[in-house]
Order: sequence, then structure tokens, then C-alpha cells
Amino acid sequence: MNLKPAGADTENDAEQFHFGGFIDEDLIACVLAKPLPGQTTVKLRQRAVENSAQRKGVGKEPIDFMERMLKERGFKTIEMSARRTAIDFYTKFGYVLMSDCYLEQGVLHMKMCKVF
Ligand SMILES: CC(C)(COP(=O)(O)OP(=O)(O)OC[C@H]1O[C@@H](n2cnc3c(N)ncnc32)[C@H](O)[C@@H]1OP(=O)(O)O)[C@@H](O)C(=O)NCCC(=O)NCCS
Repeated sequence: MNLKPAGADTENDAEQFHFGGFIDEDLIACVLAKPLPGQTTVKLRQRAVENSAQRKGVGKEPIDFMERMLKERGFKTIEMSARRTAIDFYTKFGYVLMSDCYLEQGVLHMKMCKVF
């Protein structure tokens, strides 16, 4: 995504859930879920689909799988700082806006969440 992750986001990286979408052995999609203190909320990070694979249904594939897995582990809420340009994508999958626009790493973002 050409962005430098914030230090707090990469702390305890090994304790976060990493989801990948592959064609053969090539990683073409990813999203990370970081459990927040209290263990009922995760923060999504770094969702991206490789440029040439976008708008072909790849990005939505992991959503059901990821949400099912997180529910099974007892998580109740997913939150994220979503790029303004991706808001309509997340809205399609039941995520709701929680804030106005703000700049994060020079890119417009809005807070979104989904409660199971
Ligand atoms: C946002 C992103 C993850 C979506 O993945 P994708 O593979 O392109 O999305 P899909 O093809 O699975 O699209 C699923 C649906 O969402 C829609 N959609 C996809 N991207 C959208 C967008 N940016 N805005 C509005 N709708 C979008 C598609 O048209 C499709 O709708 P349909 O089911 O009604 O046909 C991908 O475009 C991406 O990596 N973008 C750059 C990085 C980024 O912005 N990441 C999100 C950071 S918060």
C-alpha cells in the first residue's frame, strides 16, 4: 500500500491474525486483524488486493471467512481506520461509519466498525 505502518500497529505482529488470498503461490490479497486489549475487538489493518486483481471479487472473498473465524474465537466487534476511497466497499458488507474524515499518513480515512 506504499505506507509505512505505525509502530503501535506492528507491535506483537505474531499475535495478530494474518489472512492471505493466493493464486498458486502468489499472494494477491491480504488483511490483518489485531486483537485490542479486552480481546473482544479486533482492529483491521492493511487490507489490500493487488492492483491488477482489484474489482474482480477478490477483496470480498476473505470477509466471510475472516468474520466467521473471529466470531468463533469470541470477538464481538471489528473496527478499522478505512480509506475514504474504500468506504463504499465496506458499507456493502455491513460496516458503519463512526467518524468524519481525518488524515492518516497523508490519506483521508474514516473510522468504521461492525458489531456481530
Ligand atoms: C478496497 C479493495 C480491498 C477492494 O477489493 P476488490 O477486490 O477490488 O473488491 P471486490 O472486487 O471484491 O468488490 C466487492 C464489491 O465491492 C465493490 N467495490 C470494490 N471496491 C470498491 C470501492 N473502492 N468503492 C466502492 N465499491 C467498491 C465492487 O464493485 C463489488 O461490488 P458488487 O459485489 O456489488 O459487484 C481493493 O480495491 C484495494 O486493495 N484497494 C487499494 C487499497 C485499499 O484502499 N485498501 C483498503 C484500505 S482501508
